[in-house]
Amino acid sequence: MSLHSDPGRILSGMRPTGRLHLGHYHGVLKNWAVLQEQAECFFFVADWHALTTHYEEPGVMDENVWEMLIDWLAAGVDPDRATLFIQSRVPQHAELHLLLSMVTPLGWLMRVPSFKDQQQKLNDRDLATYGFLGYPLLQSADILMYRATGVPVGEDQVPHVELTREIARRFNHIFGRDGAFEEKAADALTRMGKKPAKEFLRLRREWLQDGVGSARERALTALSASGNLGNEDRERLMGYLDGGGREILPEPGALLTPAAKMPGLDGQKMSKSYNNTIQMRDDPERIRTRLMAMPTDPARQRRHDPGDPEKCPVWDLHQVYTQKTQREELAEGCKSAGIGCVDCKKPLLETILEEQSVLRARARPFEENPQQVREIIESGCERAKVVADETMREVRAVVGTLYE
Ligand code: TRP
Ligand code: SF4
Repeated sequence: MSLHSDPGRILSGMRPTGRLHLGHYHGVLKNWAVLQEQAECFFFVADWHALTTHYEEPGVMDENVWEMLIDWLAAGVDPDRATLFIQSRVPQHAELHLLLSMVTPLGWLMRVPSFKDQQQKLNDRDLATYGFLGYPLLQSADILMYRATGVPVGEDQVPHVELTREIARRFNHIFGRDGAFEEKAADALTRMGKKPAKEFLRLRREWLQDGVGSARERALTALSASGNLGNEDRERLMGYLDGGGREILPEPGALLTPAAKMPGLDGQKMSKSYNNTIQMRDDPERIRTRLMAMPTDPARQRRHDPGDPEKCPVWDLHQVYTQKTQREELAEGCKSAGIGCVDCKKPLLETILEEQSVLRARARPFEENPQQVREIIESGCERAKVVADETMREVRAVVGTLYE
């Protein structure tokens, strides 16, 4: 693969807090199955992350880890293409989390939106804990451990990837000093003039150490405004502004997964907490009963009442499952009362059941031989550990805990 199309390394994780449903499948897992064809992928079970909220019910992980992995495999995630592992089986994650914590300002963690949001949302749990505050930092450790360039996540997780970038920058700034480069930068600075140089250094510190983005902007403006700098000096100082030392932990980027609108069986977003899900390997009879009972456009009280698909949650499911031409026919039938809701739901049910049988067929060998899943994880953990050891060796070296 050429340098320019190098897709880098992808990493993502999922907490094992319950059975996976069609929202996970269409919103996350199908995307993983595509990514594994394009890049080196690491997908892992974030069991420690689950423990930060579910520490009073540790059985949750034991119940869900293996079933969740079977769901991944059912979705077409392929252990020959992607490395699958369990976070707690690669304890290096804990070491990196700890070392990152040494340089993480408390304010950065307290400002992550999910910290307060989740405390409020999950108010039946006590989340005023050290572990929960550190949740996004543990996630940073997961990402930085594998030098991931891309992290596929939903919108809610973007601030966590952003924090990871800031942590990496700060870590590299503190531990990645490069003497020769610093000397050349200092030399260029003398040509900038004493006062502007001092101001530039102050802004650089605010940016690298404290993550203040506006400071970076101001420093860049100062560089381009300086009449004393030649192009070479200016470019060197631009590099210096963004670190300029050794990049020990590279900054990742978020790969925003386009939010698939997957309605649940009551029309709200599909979610375990609304009890409105179709699971990835659900009972066909249950799917049939619940889909047939699903609410439709309330205007269609009787068979001959015309309706409006835009006001119908079943229609959102058709958007996911039904080809455009058939959708147009159904919409027409709905608006003219040419078809009833049962007629409209039937083809949808067929498609969902077909999909279920594909998922089941992929899952079956693993359901029948659970040992095989254990082996997949065993070898995935081995592969993950090789990378983790490499990273930790370098990290230990720069923080001063290598002792050779
Ligand atoms: N916090 C993520 C979620 O709730 C799970 C996760 C943990 C994760 N570590 C990660 C995702 C690293 C991406 C990368 O969905
Ligand atoms: Fe909804 Fe289809 Fe009934 Fe129209 S015909 S209200 S789209 S289920």
